[in-house]
Amino acid sequence: MPPARPGERVDRGRYLSELDFSRLQMRVSTDRYCSREHHARERELLWSRVWQVAGRADELPEPGDWLEHRIFDQSYVLVRGKDGVIRGFVNACRHRGNALCQGRGRARRFTCPYHRWQFDLDGRLLHVPRPDFEGSVEDFIGPIEDLGLRPVAVACFAGFVFLNPDPTAAPLADYLGEMVELLAPYRLEEMVPVGLNVRESLNCNWKVVMDAFQEGYHIQGIHPELVPAMDESKERYSFFGDHSVATAPFGSANLAAFGPERAIEGIRELPKTFPGVAEVLPRFEQLVAGYREAGGELAFPQGVTARSLLQQATRDTLAAKGLDVSGLTDTQMSDNQFYLLFPNFFLTIRAGEATFISSTPHADGDPNRCVWHVVNYQWLPPEQRAAQRAALVDEPKDFPYFLALQQDYAQMQRQQDGLRQRGLGYMTLSRQEVRLAYFHSILDSWLDGASADRRRAPILAERAP
Ligand code: FES
Ligand SMILES: [Fe+2]
Repeated sequence: MPPARPGERVDRGRYLSELDFSRLQMRVSTDRYCSREHHARERELLWSRVWQVAGRADELPEPGDWLEHRIFDQSYVLVRGKDGVIRGFVNACRHRGNALCQGRGRARRFTCPYHRWQFDLDGRLLHVPRPDFEGSVEDFIGPIEDLGLRPVAVACFAGFVFLNPDPTAAPLADYLGEMVELLAPYRLEEMVPVGLNVRESLNCNWKVVMDAFQEGYHIQGIHPELVPAMDESKERYSFFGDHSVATAPFGSANLAAFGPERAIEGIRELPKTFPGVAEVLPRFEQLVAGYREAGGELAFPQGVTARSLLQQATRDTLAAKGLDVSGLTDTQMSDNQFYLLFPNFFLTIRAGEATFISSTPHADGDPNRCVWHVVNYQWLPPEQRAAQRAALVDEPKDFPYFLALQQDYAQMQRQQDGLRQRGLGYMTLSRQEVRLAYFHSILDSWLDGASADRRRAPILAERAP
């Protein structure tokens, strides 16, 4: 029996022409990008209740490794315990509330610098200094059982650590739903940052970033070099609860019209935009050569195309590296799939590599600012991972992002300048920006305090045949 390939569900996603827009709001108010009042509602009704990505499990490889997660002025500490489990705590001492940790580090226990109370990695209160007091710790401070660090919900998925400040939140797996199964075959938990791992403050609202990566409409506007690399006319869309996925095949809409030689040329160009394709090209050339006749003419039989050879070359190359690709579809070998896990976890992924982009409201509370984190992940054989791992670059100045990201970086901050203009009022979305409309309607339902069941109502019905 062939292995289950959950990606087949995404392969069957809907074309724009198959979607019913009648229940979608295509006008989006601009005050949600700049008003402090809206920002405060997001803080209370979204960020204090939603599962949010806080790091990677492999950033905490050893017991005692910890890192701080900040959302607005709220701070949490994630730490790997002696039992290997990653836990989360409110980053405040149970004595008089001093902030325990800042940044990241490794510790055998947490010691508050103020009066030096000590807490175990599992949060238990371990030690209360009382140099000027003769009696027991209970005589000094009262009952201590309830004085451990306040826990916060933490769960791992695909190598990422998620946190939810809401103690009544449903489990992460319930929130992610089908995303868990769809992403599992990529083996994200075995990927490491390679080449790019940057976190930087931007002068735009966090949703400007999320919007920018959910539509391909701006490719013709600011990324002309990408036009030949993706066929936006064949983009497919799938919606799963709060989350969504889009796929766009490699290659421009009219590539087939140029014949196989031009199509092969197009694939040779891909590494300029998608560096991971470079390692696949030797096998690709080998496969192509097998279809050349004595005179050098290409003779593809029925069913063989440059794209199908790219898929086979990718499968062969990754399998030779040791990645089990049996759970991935052919489309996932060649095409990018664009995942948005609501609210701020975006992933461009194809077999063997992924680009992760997330944006978070800035800790300074200004709705016109955010922090983005962009990472290229690659699947590498275990023995190569440590040497190739890209360390986090935090708040660089003038970081040389690759071209498309540089273009987005400039554009997003320019858009915020316009969104701040009080006379504008609302944005007008095109149909190609359907995921933005979906995203903002999901956000609205969070801000209305809707339950998960209501949010999962079919906001986007399929058009009747
Ligand atoms: S506030 Fe932490 S020990 Fe006093
Ligand atoms: Fe872009």
